[in-house]
Amino acid sequence: MSKILITGGAGFIGSTLANYYSENHNVIVVDDLSMGNKQNLTSSKNIEFVKGSVTNKQLMQNILIDNQFDYIFHLAAVASVADSVERPLATHEVNFDSVLQLLELIKKYQKELKRLVFSSSAAVYGDEPTLPKQEESIIRPLTPYAIDKFAAEKYVVDYYHLYDVPTSAVRFFNVYGPKQNPESPYSGVISIMMDRYKKLLNNEQSMFTLFGDGTQSRDFVFIEDVVQALNLIANSQDTLGEVYNIGTGEAIGLNELVSTIDSFLEVKLPIQYEDERSGDIKHSLADIAKVKAVGYQPKYDIKSGLEKYVSYEL
Ligand code: UD1
Repeated sequence: MSKILITGGAGFIGSTLANYYSENHNVIVVDDLSMGNKQNLTSSKNIEFVKGSVTNKQLMQNILIDNQFDYIFHLAAVASVADSVERPLATHEVNFDSVLQLLELIKKYQKELKRLVFSSSAAVYGDEPTLPKQEESIIRPLTPYAIDKFAAEKYVVDYYHLYDVPTSAVRFFNVYGPKQNPESPYSGVISIMMDRYKKLLNNEQSMFTLFGDGTQSRDFVFIEDVVQALNLIANSQDTLGEVYNIGTGEAIGLNELVSTIDSFLEVKLPIQYEDERSGDIKHSLADIAKVKAVGYQPKYDIKSGLEKYVSYEL
């Protein structure tokens, strides 16, 4: 039984990973519940929940002194690009400072660690138009979120080369699936859409706000595939000090996404169009050859992923 720390472990990606690992391993979750929810976690006796922020140095130090971990997944973050544009200082503390602090604590106290996996983002590529994005593609971060993710990712990889801290970083494309919190205007777009469909199906008033003209596109990757990729990367020796795209290798535009769900559910989602959000990227698409070489094979395309999500949520 391994011991695993998951920061942001009550959030969407973190809780799915925590529940997965808790079947066979001991998991400690640290989460300040700013976006996460304790109820996302199964009541497994193998999960210990600690409420607190990764920016709290004392808390993190105590956890890393008291436990020797085999794996650490640092997923705690302010996940919204738009939120970082509104609150650059506050998001920087979570998205950057906490990472450097964690690296230092690991270097000092975690001599048995097999791997730290850090969640970076496809946002680091910015709006340089060449697609699909390979890990070596031009990096052009446009927002505080993307700048922090890129700087943090660089530190994570550097700690392997400089100090032998076993690390890997992943660049998530647009992850979706059950448990993604739709409550904030900064939530992931599919979770917000799903919430509006639910209202529509319940005959409540429902309106989806689409920022821009809907031709923007994203590589949406289903949560189960993300768990698959994280697990493979954490357990391979080839991935030490490396960065990986996690996506599907296929993108869909937002208008097309809405019409796909419309036809599944045989309804028409009311849409109001507003100006594009500042800092938004137009198109995003992953080249996943590098992570495929570690054994990753996405099981869901956008249609089958949505089908599963819809059957779970609605
Ligand atoms: C998302 C993730 C980010 C991740 C990045 C990787 C979230 C909240 N953000 O950013 O953590 O690092 O992918 O690529 O999960 N939109 C609407 N209406 C809405 C909400 C969004 O039209 O109500 C539009 C946005 O303007 C944007 C697109 O949908 O064009 C995607 O937005 P969003 O889901 O916030 O994701 P990203 O900004 O791509």
